[in-house]
Amino acid sequence: MNVTELKNTFSERFGKEGVVYASPGRINLIGEHTDYNGGFVFPGAIDKGIYAVIRLNGTDRVRTYSIDKEEYCEFGLKEEDLPESHWAKYLFGVCREIIKRGYAIGGFDTVFYGDVPIGAGVSSSAALESTFAYALNDLFHLGIDKFELARIGQATEHHYVGVNCGIMDQFASLFGKEGHLIRLNCATMEYEYFPFRPKGYRVVLLDTLVKHELASSAYNKRRASCENACAHIAQRHPEVKYLSDATMAMLDEVKAEIPAEDYMRAEYVIGEKQRVLDVCDALQRNDYETVGKCMYGTHYGMSKLYEVSCEELDFLNDIAKQCGVTGSRVMGGGFGGCTINLVKDECYDAFITTAVKEFNAKFGHEPKIYNFVISDGARKL
Ligand code: GLA
Repeated sequence: MNVTELKNTFSERFGKEGVVYASPGRINLIGEHTDYNGGFVFPGAIDKGIYAVIRLNGTDRVRTYSIDKEEYCEFGLKEEDLPESHWAKYLFGVCREIIKRGYAIGGFDTVFYGDVPIGAGVSSSAALESTFAYALNDLFHLGIDKFELARIGQATEHHYVGVNCGIMDQFASLFGKEGHLIRLNCATMEYEYFPFRPKGYRVVLLDTLVKHELASSAYNKRRASCENACAHIAQRHPEVKYLSDATMAMLDEVKAEIPAEDYMRAEYVIGEKQRVLDVCDALQRNDYETVGKCMYGTHYGMSKLYEVSCEELDFLNDIAKQCGVTGSRVMGGGFGGCTINLVKDECYDAFITTAVKEFNAKFGHEPKIYNFVISDGARKL
């Protein structure tokens, strides 16, 4: 599928032409499960995303066809019109969140497809939400700023999908900039672009193709643990608004009051905050060894303290270490999906060959390899 075929599919189905919008998935170099804790994240948009043709239809109904699912769905714009199909809930949620904020929108026809892998931890769902939030804002001349568009996508996850996610994915999908990563302070929403073209290195994703069914409830549970630890700390230290504001000493003060599990989750989050800052500093010195060490540190924390890794991801991480890969870790929410790897040019081929062979020997299927380019965020094509 490409954009020309997409447009043709739209015209065949709806008889007219529409406007094309696109929004990307994202990678995140470091700063995982920190967004909903008021910490830092360091994502970048990628050259894989969701593409949609849209045309206003003058009714109060949305008519939509998903090329990837080969499914048609039609729904109204009132809260009780919630569609059954999972994928259509994302579109419906975006519409509802816009309406709930007091904006007037009407019906539209749309056909869309994606080249961003689903369930791999590269935010295909944020790409979908951002595409439609961005497009509807443009087509109905709503004048919503990009921060609020990101919040509309995030609220869609909270209220229509059931994942209490942070803001990173939608933010990256909307604010992405070619050749740059974005360090976002999720407490203040201040952000800074960092050029990212590591000379002599490649960054590659290895997808385990593992998808855990309970990933969203496990994600919500992690978030609840963090909020509990934070609430206990805040009782003694009212200046602590988010868990990322806390120090390890503060966490230790409440150790006896909170479940051991919550303590471990919080320990990871507090450590991760510093790692993001260390990576940003190291990048400015072109010190990729430090970047890589922090990535391994994150993997360890996500695996042993936050417990969002799995056997397949840990296996890929071990192989990366054995092959002398500079940095490697599980990326995104976890519970399956990808590792992100910072690999010296001269190590690349041997690493990929070994990882594919050994992973296949152990798990009976090959991991998928994704190369990507850091690209621009949401746009009209
Ligand atoms: C998912 C969520 C994000 C973030 C990451 C983990 O991608 O959507 O908000 O919490 O997990 O860093």
